[in-house]
Amino acid sequence: MIKQAKVRATAHTNIALIKYWGKADVSLNIPTTSSLSMTLDKFYTTTELSFDASGQDRLILNGEGTDATRVKGFLDLVRQKTGQDFPGLLIDSQNHVPTAAGLASSASSFAALTGALVRLLDLPENDREMSRIARIGSGSASRSIFGNFAIWNKGHDDASSYAEPFYDEDIGLSMIVAEISQKEKKMSSTRGMQLAQKAPSYGAWVEKSARQLKEMKSAVQAHDIEQIGLIAQDNALGMHEQNRLCPEPFDYFIDETRQVLAFTEACYRSGLLAFATMDAGPNVKIITDKASETELLARFKNEFPNMAFEIAHAGGGLSYD
Ligand code: PMV
Repeated sequence: MIKQAKVRATAHTNIALIKYWGKADVSLNIPTTSSLSMTLDKFYTTTELSFDASGQDRLILNGEGTDATRVKGFLDLVRQKTGQDFPGLLIDSQNHVPTAAGLASSASSFAALTGALVRLLDLPENDREMSRIARIGSGSASRSIFGNFAIWNKGHDDASSYAEPFYDEDIGLSMIVAEISQKEKKMSSTRGMQLAQKAPSYGAWVEKSARQLKEMKSAVQAHDIEQIGLIAQDNALGMHEQNRLCPEPFDYFIDETRQVLAFTEACYRSGLLAFATMDAGPNVKIITDKASETELLARFKNEFPNMAFEIAHAGGGLSYD
């Protein structure tokens, strides 16, 4: 039974402190590793969902009609999995995720779409089920259903692979997002993972990642930002190492990436809390705490006067209005 004609849902993007970088099942996005993320307050997607008069799935992104192929593929899978052959949808999304920051909007987009879809179709608003549905759209979206810290348990099939809230206290973690411009052709995360999984060292990274997840859980619970930063940095750099060591090597780093990484390390050596993490693009997110963020930001602005920076903190989970 269809309850509402139009639903609006908002979800925030998240940054993984222990990364998802590899798929055990490509069509369902079952990962090779469990991952742990922090949802950000600053960057989010709001999606308004209704049935489209044309009977087709249509996507409007930031006010403009956009290619709906990926979203249609997702909706068709949901139709198949839920057994609900719902008619074509109009997806009207506003992305508050700056493209210049190189932040992926797929996590917030698919989490917001999932939330809106579940309410529009009057399906049970169960977080675990929503996380599983969002995961099919984009793996990292499984974590964006939740606020603050979430863990995506890799599981082994569609039923067992979902995220859940891990820790809901404010631990004072800050992320400074360095908006490094996109100069190189982007490699999609799906393609990047497929290549990286062929690196001879990939299995060792997966094993290390399981150990690091345990250490990261303790560090978050202990509010130990230095430990969090050290583990997250090692995990992310290890992920990017697989890209360089696989048979068809590729790299998301550009010159400015290396400069920002080197400066982050210099700041840490000088006594400030400063660690780096990176995803499928050249930009860097600098991990620090609320007490250090102002001084650290000033140092980065001074060193990179032409670069834009944004400070983000922990944000909330899926919401409706
Ligand atoms: O959700 P996807 O398919 O865009 O993959 C995202 C992968 C990383 O952002 C690189 C890491 C992560 O865990 O979010």
